[in-house]
Amino acid sequence: MSPTIAVIGSTGKTGRRVADLLDSRGHIVRRLARDTNPAFDWERPDQWAAALHGVDRLYAAYVPDLAAPGSDVAITRLAQVAHEAGVQRIVLLSGRGEDGARRCEDILLDAHVPATIVRASWFTQNFTEGVLRDAVFTGVLALPARSIREPFIDVDDIAAVAVEALTGEGHEGRVYEVTGPELLTFAEMATMLSEITEREITYLPVGFDDFHAAVAAEQGPEVATLLTELCREVFDGRNESTTDGVTEALGRPPRDARAVLTEAAAAGAWT
Ligand SMILES: NC(=O)c1ccc[n+]([C@@H]2O[C@H](COP(=O)([O-])OP(=O)(O)OC[C@H]3O[C@@H](n4cnc5c(N)ncnc54)[C@H](OP(=O)(O)O)[C@@H]3O)[C@@H](O)[C@H]2O)c1
Repeated sequence: MSPTIAVIGSTGKTGRRVADLLDSRGHIVRRLARDTNPAFDWERPDQWAAALHGVDRLYAAYVPDLAAPGSDVAITRLAQVAHEAGVQRIVLLSGRGEDGARRCEDILLDAHVPATIVRASWFTQNFTEGVLRDAVFTGVLALPARSIREPFIDVDDIAAVAVEALTGEGHEGRVYEVTGPELLTFAEMATMLSEITEREITYLPVGFDDFHAAVAAEQGPEVATLLTELCREVFDGRNESTTDGVTEALGRPPRDARAVLTEAAAAGAWT
């Protein structure tokens, strides 16, 4: 019998692609999010057993972030509920360079259900469908990233690695640290976005306090504190390297940011 593969976060950037790719390959997919039936809400552990009933394999994108307080409790509980439901394989999306995320990875890798970690760098799609899309419209990309270089990754590559880990063999216990193929400063990314969108987009390096105040005004203090602490943690140079995680998992290199953004522009990402 074909395994049933559940996707937590199936309406999000990675989960939607994971579920679509699984679908296109003929797998049985259960898409989970807060409004699906069954529903899966990270804040409603009472729902989890029903959501995972009959599930054999599981992809999980945790919200808001594995670095957020309480994520370790949630991942511990998810591993336990998944084990009780008979899940045989879990693939967890993680964030590169985050201590809190690393603790969650370890919890899952030490739990009963065989697991694979996909530890990703910043998504290129943050600019096409994520938190940084607005910068294309306002023309200002304001971040406390100084001149740090980031190996932006294509979310389609992340989904392809996750699907391979869910459906292929020999991935249990592995950590795939996945990045794009080149390092770009945020100023270089702004220039690339300007060229591709034919709009003027400028990178504005800001301090952590100013960044916190700006995010708090739009999204509230809790989100502002989480994002500021995340930026403080990862924008210290620790992620200024590329990895061969995509090639290791898929046998082909990752796509670069220009290819991803050019394709997104052609598909109407900013219209
Ligand atoms: N962005 C980056 O550059 C980056 C890099 C590395 C790692 N990550 C990690 O990526 C993860 C986010 O994954 P993503 O970008 O694929 O998702 P996303 O685009 O942020 O979408 C969030 C998904 O989670 C669901 N969701 C929201 N609140 C929820 C809740 N309380 N309970 C259950 N589901 C909920 C949403 O569905 P509904 O709203 O429909 O419920 C949606 O499917 C985070 O853990 C983040 O740390 C991000």
